[in-house]
Order: sequence, then structure tokens, then C-alpha cells
Amino acid sequence: QVKPWGGKCTDVLSPVYCTETGERICIGRQATMSPKDSVDAVDAAVKAWGRGRGDWPRRTLEQRIAAVETLVGRLKAKRAEIVASLQWEICKNDADAAKEFDRTMDFVVSLINCARGTDSAAMVCEEGVHALLKRSPVGVMMNLGPSNYPFNETYATLIPALIMGNTVVMKVPNTGGLAHCLTMEAYAECFPAGVVNFVSGRGRDTMPPCMETGLIDIFAFIGSSKAADSLVKAHPQPHRLKNLLSLDAKNLAVVLPDADLDLAAKECLAGSTSYNGQRCTAIKLIMVHKSVAEAFNTKFCAAVKGLAAGVPFGKNSITPLASSTTEYMTQLTEDAKGKGATVLNDAEGGGHCDRTLFFPAVLYPVTAKMDLWHAEQFGPVVPIAPYDTISEPIAWMENMHFGQQSAIFTASGAAAAPSRDLTELLDACAMNTCRVNINAQCQRGPDAYPFAGRRSSAMGTISVSEVLRATSVETMVAGKS
Ligand code: G3H
Repeated sequence: QVKPWGGKCTDVLSPVYCTETGERICIGRQATMSPKDSVDAVDAAVKAWGRGRGDWPRRTLEQRIAAVETLVGRLKAKRAEIVASLQWEICKNDADAAKEFDRTMDFVVSLINCARGTDSAAMVCEEGVHALLKRSPVGVMMNLGPSNYPFNETYATLIPALIMGNTVVMKVPNTGGLAHCLTMEAYAECFPAGVVNFVSGRGRDTMPPCMETGLIDIFAFIGSSKAADSLVKAHPQPHRLKNLLSLDAKNLAVVLPDADLDLAAKECLAGSTSYNGQRCTAIKLIMVHKSVAEAFNTKFCAAVKGLAAGVPFGKNSITPLASSTTEYMTQLTEDAKGKGATVLNDAEGGGHCDRTLFFPAVLYPVTAKMDLWHAEQFGPVVPIAPYDTISEPIAWMENMHFGQQSAIFTASGAAAAPSRDLTELLDACAMNTCRVNINAQCQRGPDAYPFAGRRSSAMGTISVSEVLRATSVETMVAGKS
């Protein structure tokens, strides 16, 4: 139970139902801050920044790293509690919840190593002008992470901002926020007052007032494009914001006629159903060449049949939904069925739900008339469409307003001369998305690699080196000899 501001609190309910009462289980309380509370948090961050003359920005890189390392030690001591909170609140299974914590800690270590390698101020001389180049902090960051990776993706921008000397207002996600509540004491012990300021409560009440102050310099947001747009617009001088955004996606997997169908089915299964498809990187549409569609669908449905569903404690792959709703999954499924698609795995429970559990629905053939063709489902509904010529998946990608990742399944890549279809498709994937996965599912990791997107999917790149750059500016002292 957490009540850091002594004000109003809201019960946090797990998507898991109690077998005895038949009710969702209350797993904690989270503060419901007012607009004024959140503006106070901005003021505290601005004060700690002190126009770059506050205690934190004036510390050396090594001193800041030392504070972050102490924080890491404190967090590791709470690993079991944080992992358990991810299981109860966002229903990640044992392996996924542990992975979220561990990869976050690894990312922090990589950030520290990279910052140490790049901090040393460089003396340069161009055209007789000597300059001492140095990376300096930017100011105050507003940081918001998503409900599906509340810990990992918040830290992906929060920790680099701290290492580089910025101060932060951190909005605790409404879903997945308890993990952060468990860390607040550690932050208070490791950082000077005002350096990290938690804001908790309804986003629409707390976030616009923070942006309206005009005192936010960096906007680090991982979540929906719609929310990001409206918050950027709330800033009186949006052009002044440094944006670091990772937003919606609709990643396409294309199965070429020469693909290894067992491998394609296995990777597409992991890509579309792991953590119930509640990943921005999930495969959200599969296009299969019509000559192999039936064979692929059979293998894919057999693989879906093997997925275990139930509580998030243990190895179940399908767990209660936390970021999406079963209503939305049902709505998308019914829309597709009404327009001619079939739930291929209907007999095995595909598309059936039990309160917050939704067993993956495999829909075929999905066409442009259906919502699933365009909309990001962010959940366990798998649309499959047959294609005839390679121009069809290429046209889909070129017309999609998102552009994060893509996947291609083919044996042709290993041939001395790749097929013409593969060459064209590769070009289109490279120009319309930021990561092309060959014979593999879409995914963010390894986290040191760039994580980016085109169009409405992202702005800026999240990778070890790029986030350190994005949270700092290159400054110099120059003079003539
Ligand atoms: O939801 C977006 C995450 O960055 C996905 O990460 O591909 O490792 O699951 P992941």
C-alpha cells in the first residue's frame, strides 16, 4: 500500500479474479494527485534544475553514476517484490516479469558504461578555432512509460536523463504503477530532493497542467500516438520540446512461398501472442502467399492450440489482459467475422473469453474492409491475409501510417541470388519500417540496438547511445589561439 502524498488514493485491482469471492483482487493503492500536485512536481524539478546550477546538474558524471549505481543496488534488493507486482498488476508470467526487471538492470549497466566512454570532454581545432566540446544536460524531463512495460520502458529514458544531469517529473502509469511505488523510497534516498518527482493519478488530470507550464524541456513518452499528440500540443511552445517518443505500431509479417513454414509459424506465434500480443512490437498482421496459406494456417493453428491459458503465476502464455480489453478483442473479431473472415481455431476456443482472459482468435482471410486490416489490436487477435503478388504487402506498408518493424519469412535470403520479390520487399520494409526481421519475429531486444519507428510510430531512437544523446546537448567553449 502506497500513499506518498498523504492525499486521495485509488485502489489498484488486479485483472486476476479471486476464486472465492469472484471479484478482482485489490493489490494496493495508488495516489490520485490533483492538477495542482502535478504542477508542484514540475516546480520541484525546475528548482532542482536551477537553470543548470542546481546540485544535480553540477555534479560530475561519476558522481551521478554513483547515485544511479546505489539506486540499482536498492532496486535489486526489491527484485522479488517488483517482479511480483508486475505479475499481479499487468499479468506477466514468471519468465516475462523476471525478464522485464533483469533486462532493465542490464540496460542501466550498459548506459553507465556508454556514458563513461563518451563523457570525456574533447579538445578540437578547426580553422584556427580551438574548442572544448562537452555534452551537457538539457533541463527538465517529463517522463511517461506504458502499461505493458511500465518498468523497463520508463527506465529506458528516465535513467539516461538522470545520468546526463537532467531533473525529471515521472508520471507513474495507471496500470503497472505499483512497481514504481515500490521504488519511491529508494529514489528519495539516492537523489537530492526535486531530482525525481513522481506524479500519480489520472493522466488527463495531471499531465496537461504540467505541459501547460511551458517548463518541460524534454518529453519522453512511450504510449499511444493520440495521447502524445495532445500532450505535445498542450505545451505553449511545442517547437521547443525535445521529443523522444515510441508510439503505436502495426507490424507486418510476410510469409513468402519458399519460407520454412514450421519456422514461420513458430516465430509468428511468438510474435503475435507472447504477452497476449500486448507489445508495440507484436506482429499485428500476417500476409501469406496464397500458395502456402493453407499449410501455414494449419501449422499456425496447431501451435496456438498448444498455448496454455490461465493465471500469470507459472508458465501460462495467455494470461488476463491488462493493457487491452476483452471487449475490444471481441469487437475486432466480430467485425472481421461479419465481413467474411472465419475464426480458424473456433473449435479450440479461439476468440472465447472468460472475464479478463481472451484465448487467441486466428482470423482468415482478413481483407481491407475489416478493422483488423488497419487498427492496432494490441491483444491476442491474429489476422492473416493471403496475397498473390508482392505488390500487395508492399502497398499495405506504404499506405500504413505507422512504421515500426516488419518481418519476412523466406529461404531465398540464403541463396546466391535472392528472388526479385525478396529484393523488392526488403527495399519496401527498409523504407517504411525501422527494423526488418528475417525469419524471426519482431522485437525490441537486444536493448542496446536502436529501437525506433517511422511516421506516427516514433520520434527519436531508444538505444544505449542514442538516449544519452537525446537527453543532452553538445556544448563548447571556443577561442582563437
Ligand atoms: O511494447 C513495446 C516493447 O518495447 C516491446 O519490447 O519486443 O522486447 O517485447 P519487446
